Amino acid sequence: MLRGENTYIRLMEESDVQHKVDWFNDEEVRKTLNVEFPISVVGTKKWLHNVTTNSLRKDFIICSSEDDEPIGYCGLVNIDLKNSKAESYLGIGNKKYWGQGHASEARRLILDYAFNELSLNKVYSFVWAENETMQHINKKVGFIIEGRLRDDVYYQGEYREKVLMGILRSEYRR
Ligand SMILES: CC(C)(COP(=O)(O)OP(=O)(O)OC[C@H]1O[C@@H](n2cnc3c(N)ncnc32)[C@H](O)[C@@H]1OP(=O)(O)O)[C@@H](O)C(=O)NCCC(=O)NCCS
Repeated sequence: MLRGENTYIRLMEESDVQHKVDWFNDEEVRKTLNVEFPISVVGTKKWLHNVTTNSLRKDFIICSSEDDEPIGYCGLVNIDLKNSKAESYLGIGNKKYWGQGHASEARRLILDYAFNELSLNKVYSFVWAENETMQHINKKVGFIIEGRLRDDVYYQGEYREKVLMGILRSEYRR
């Protein structure tokens, strides 16, 4: 478990599956993701069993320290030890907890884990071009925009742009 002031992250367990299903099937949250829709409990359980033993990724649940409530998800995927980098994802699925600083804390916790525990050199992340909140959170800790992927994903009748953001260990501002 990795603890911040008001937020902690821990590895995802089977008891979190229903939360993840509820969050990912919520329209407002779903548009911030790039995953299959809808998702089911049985499919998500199977997915969790597969990824738990995959050393190339770590999937965490974000919790509020005040009430121990699971409120979101974050993780590292495509962990590449040769090139010392990984991709990071993060979101607050429980909308009641938006705007309380949990994503910012979770962003720092996952970077602490990547840089201090795994000794990685670089973390990168894909963010939808219109998701200025997430870009702001990333920039606060030192991420910069490395590129724009135009018309990258076709979603509900239109092409969407993704922004590639990256941070090196030497640039991390905790
Ligand atoms: C984006 C998301 C991860 C943010 O989580 P959160 O816990 O609410 O974020 P935090 O409270 O830690 O921080 C929000 C920061 O963004 C800032 N912010 C809020 N709206 C903003 C906007 N439109 N543009 C830029 N920054 C914004 C806040 O001022 C705050 O920054 P500060 O700490 O420097 O004051 C979370 O709301 C989420 O998962 N949302 C899904 C919905 C979504 O992203 N919608 C956008 C459409 S793609």
